[in-house]
Amino acid sequence: MISKRIQEVEPSRTVELTNRIAAMRREGIPVIGLNVGEPDFDTPAHIRRAAKEAIEEGFTRYTPVMGVPEIREAIASKLMRENHVEYAPDEITLGPGAKQCIYAALLALCDPGDEVIIPCPCWVSYTEMVRMAGGVPVAVRTAEDFSLDLAHIERAVTGRTKAVIINTPNNPTGAVYSKESLEELALLAQKHDFYVLSDEVYECMVYEGRTHVSVSALSRDARRRTVLINSFSKTYAMTGWRLGYLAADREVVQAVNVVQSQMVSSVNSISQKAGIAALQGSQDCVREMASEYDRRRLFLHERLNRIEGIRCQSGEGAFYLLPDVTDYLGRTYNGKRIADDLALAEFLLEKARVAVVPGSAFLAPGHLRITYAASVETLERAADAMEAALRLLEKKEKKV
Ligand SMILES: Cc1ncc(COP(=O)(O)O)c(C=O)c1O
Repeated sequence: MISKRIQEVEPSRTVELTNRIAAMRREGIPVIGLNVGEPDFDTPAHIRRAAKEAIEEGFTRYTPVMGVPEIREAIASKLMRENHVEYAPDEITLGPGAKQCIYAALLALCDPGDEVIIPCPCWVSYTEMVRMAGGVPVAVRTAEDFSLDLAHIERAVTGRTKAVIINTPNNPTGAVYSKESLEELALLAQKHDFYVLSDEVYECMVYEGRTHVSVSALSRDARRRTVLINSFSKTYAMTGWRLGYLAADREVVQAVNVVQSQMVSSVNSISQKAGIAALQGSQDCVREMASEYDRRRLFLHERLNRIEGIRCQSGEGAFYLLPDVTDYLGRTYNGKRIADDLALAEFLLEKARVAVVPGSAFLAPGHLRITYAASVETLERAADAMEAALRLLEKKEKKV
């Protein structure tokens, strides 16, 4: 019998959808995939070269649990240089991706029944990871423009609140949290004594003159309460290398290392060498990719808003748009009602052959999450196909 704990956990909807699309493609059905949160660029050549050298040099064994000292030193320098916060190398530890680092942090921090506040819309995995760690996810709405609603967060705080998870720049909304809102959050954390898990995997993708701010850089107390999580996946187009890290107060890192020592032993040694090359090499590749995402964002945002009934904010970061599609809900096709965003995403997959993720997967019902980590030509084809398919939907009858 499967454990109750796992029976209560939802499988990742985004991963499920990816499997379904792969099956459709195997059957020869062409699908434009705007569902996966993954750079469409190759890992830059100098990073791949470092990995090849690591293999040739026989750097193929277990490493220390927290990662080789060189990568932690390189991460510490990066955090100082770019995020303006000082961590010693032993206040940094690695995991196979930011995803596993977040889970390890939750395992290290949560006692059964501890509450973790999650501003939503939010990334699919937070709520389920909190559950797997024995905690209780508490979803609170963000403001209309998807910025943090501090009053809402404070109202959700109880004696059991252990942490708040924030993600800026945000998946799925594209919001970038302002310095002021993070300062307020840091004050709330101090007032009510909770941790902030700060997922910063999209930090390099910020647009419209916005800057990414790390909450841990805001004060000594904020640094003490923050678990900063980041990864090489999105910044360096290294999703398959499975390399992420967290930086926190020594006590928290030591607890996370206990988890990692029993769970992962160490992160892939070759990926660690690649990670060092990524951090120490030129950052031009990062800037070039971000500037291309920005071009695509502007294109897709404009194109989506031209479709009748779709309302879409421009997103200031990451590589996602989250259009509001409520106007299409309740419409029918061949007598079949499109009841919600799940049905609409299904309809678009069937009729437009475009894969997008229903907003409900991110606690954003009535929306679709669309990735723009795809060429402008692909985005154009997808937008044309979606627009044509949406035109097939018959309008709801007007109430008289
Ligand atoms: C907000 C957010 N955090 C973390 C991750 C996971 O990143 P990694 O590949 O480093 O595990 C993702 C991946 O989609 C993400 O969107």
